Amino acid sequence: MSIIENALKKANKQGLIDNRNIEDVAIPHPELDPAIENKQSEPMLAHTEVQKGPDNLVSINWEILAAEGFIDHNDAKSQLAEEFRVIKRPLVNNIQGVDVNGISRPNLILICSSLPGEGKTFISINLALSIANEMDKSVLLIDADVEKPSISKQLGIKQSPGLIEYLENDKVTFSDILLKTDLPNLSVIPAGKRHKYSTELLSSQRMYLFAEEVSRRYKDRIVIFDSPPLLVATQAQILAELVGQVVLVIAAEETPQNVVNESIAKLSNCDVVMTLLNKTRKEMDLYGHSYSYGKYGHA
Ligand SMILES: Nc1ncnc2c1ncn2[C@@H]1O[C@H](COP(=O)(O)OP(=O)(O)OP(=O)(O)O)[C@@H](O)[C@H]1O
Ligand SMILES: [Mg+2]
Repeated sequence: MSIIENALKKANKQGLIDNRNIEDVAIPHPELDPAIENKQSEPMLAHTEVQKGPDNLVSINWEILAAEGFIDHNDAKSQLAEEFRVIKRPLVNNIQGVDVNGISRPNLILICSSLPGEGKTFISINLALSIANEMDKSVLLIDADVEKPSISKQLGIKQSPGLIEYLENDKVTFSDILLKTDLPNLSVIPAGKRHKYSTELLSSQRMYLFAEEVSRRYKDRIVIFDSPPLLVATQAQILAELVGQVVLVIAAEETPQNVVNESIAKLSNCDVVMTLLNKTRKEMDLYGHSYSYGKYGHA
């Protein structure tokens, strides 16, 4: 039994996490699985940063994003696309009230992890692309990693005012910071400028009202927050209390059990916490069962 398996079983028993329907989800890392085409080892392609145009519209270079290992909308049958179909299902079901009732703000989803580099941004962007590409739902991707923002950089979007400017100045409106993209169902809110009181801004009443407003006014929109690591700063924990669902990304075979336990304890007030094992090797799943890649078949 792996150390993470132990941690998750214990947390499950304590009712701290909800792994319904997501138990077989594990995202392999191409570098760890020679059977998968290793796109990450190719030299990183430089984005030409795009500036927002009229109506705050940005065009994303989808080819570069796909070459960097993200979901390619021209390749709906890829293994990665299939993995994200499985990941999004329980999250979307919770929003539609199919499985769980009584979740506050179920359409707000926080992607967090214990430590840096476990794959939060990778998961946030892919989840957003998967939902925006394939479902009759709009997705708003918010870069709430305000200390170390990377959504705009990864999407090749030039820096523009975002969450911090909105929180800092009540004259800045939601539509001032909302970027529409050339994928009609996907919009983005960047982190904005660095701010020495960013933690205070994230825990402000204005942030709470922002979460309430986005959740209530846009019930059909799924809002994904990319966050900083839980155990490095307090910001992720603050954000976790604002959202209905939390996805805890765990880097397989890297993150020790005590670290996972500590994160799960910090998330104990959250309505739904789902764990997602990232960067797995081919033959492993969340519970250490033999996981056969491509198990879910192609869509
Ligand atoms: N399953 C995966 N397959 C391929 N590449 C991955 C996978 N998970 C993460 N990566 C890559 O690993 C690197 C670190 O991931 P990422 O930036 O998403 O982590 P993070 O948790 O957001 O880090 P930080 O805490 O610094 O914000 C990135 O280059 C990302 O593209
Ligand atoms: Mg990140």
